[in-house]
Amino acid sequence: EKGTYPHYMLKEIDEQPAVMRKIIQAYQNDQGELTIDPDIIYAMNNSDRVYIIAAGTSYHAGLVGKQFIEKMARIPVEVHISSEFGYNMPLLSEKPLFVFISQSGETADSRAVLVNIKEKGYQALTITNVPGSTLSREADHTLLLHAGPEIAVASTKAYTAQLAVLAILAEVTAKSRNLDPGFDLIHELGLVANAMEVLCDSKEIIEHISREFLSVTRNAFFIGRGIDYYVGLEGALKLKEISYIQAEGFAGGELKHGTIALIEEGTPVIALATQESVNLSIRGNVKEVVARGANPCIISMKGLNMDEDSFVIPEVHELLTPLISVVPLQILAYYAALHRDCDVDKPRNLAKSVTVE
Ligand code: F6R
Repeated sequence: EKGTYPHYMLKEIDEQPAVMRKIIQAYQNDQGELTIDPDIIYAMNNSDRVYIIAAGTSYHAGLVGKQFIEKMARIPVEVHISSEFGYNMPLLSEKPLFVFISQSGETADSRAVLVNIKEKGYQALTITNVPGSTLSREADHTLLLHAGPEIAVASTKAYTAQLAVLAILAEVTAKSRNLDPGFDLIHELGLVANAMEVLCDSKEIIEHISREFLSVTRNAFFIGRGIDYYVGLEGALKLKEISYIQAEGFAGGELKHGTIALIEEGTPVIALATQESVNLSIRGNVKEVVARGANPCIISMKGLNMDEDSFVIPEVHELLTPLISVVPLQILAYYAALHRDCDVDKPRNLAKSVTVE
């Protein structure tokens, strides 16, 4: 039930800190260490390459998950859109492990891939919010998101839950390989939960930003570099699906290779700046679009922020920034839809789970 909330989406955005804490609890053993079914860790270690298969928001979570698994556990990862994989199958490695990411566990495009790879005898792990869902039943292993039912069509808490579970999978795999991820993930995820709370309490400021940048525009661009690029893709998807503003995410350096032609006087460009190594270069990209008339909205992380920034998110570990930088983007999209009188929870033409190929 949505209780006092006007929309499920807003309620589900607000539930994210509690979901983080629930996940930390669910994946902790009696000794207070993160733990995952040893069969799953065996499957990870026994594979020479992980193939993540997903659609939509779950695909965007997979793009970030690749960074976690490669940087922490040092296993190569490919991320594929499920609807493309069937007829565009890449050359597979000798010992692939397939990881399906799906909030609903019912996405037909993903299931088609699962059926296909099971026929070939490969192992599959499903990361899903729904125990007993088709993708969970038909895979060899399941990791649950513990996000609680997600009712709004636009996925919010399932995305951040997917990221947290992928980080835990990466960390536990890393430890089993005697690799030191260099930070205490339980502690860092606790900080993420606290930061999410701060962001959920900043709705008024974000509503104001949404009104300023998004209430009249036809289109909007999201830019970022590295991990921020993937979050930008998700921010753009959130905005377009519920507000019907044409929104696209780009790698900061890629804009000038074509898309910059679309920048007009007042075009909103939302830039993420959460990574120290690319802070100056993403700001350089912002200058390029501003010179063509863009209206820049920079969302940066504390410590990297500058005077011109529109919003500053609290500091968390640099690998985990997607878990919190997405929150203001979710809230921005929510208010853009609201200000445009759109049906926030049930956007036109969309279904919560897409059970046709
Ligand atoms: C976006 C959204 C969709 C889903 C996609 C995959 O907000 O809800 O893009 O992410 O249809 O759904 P699942 O994760 O259930 O496989």
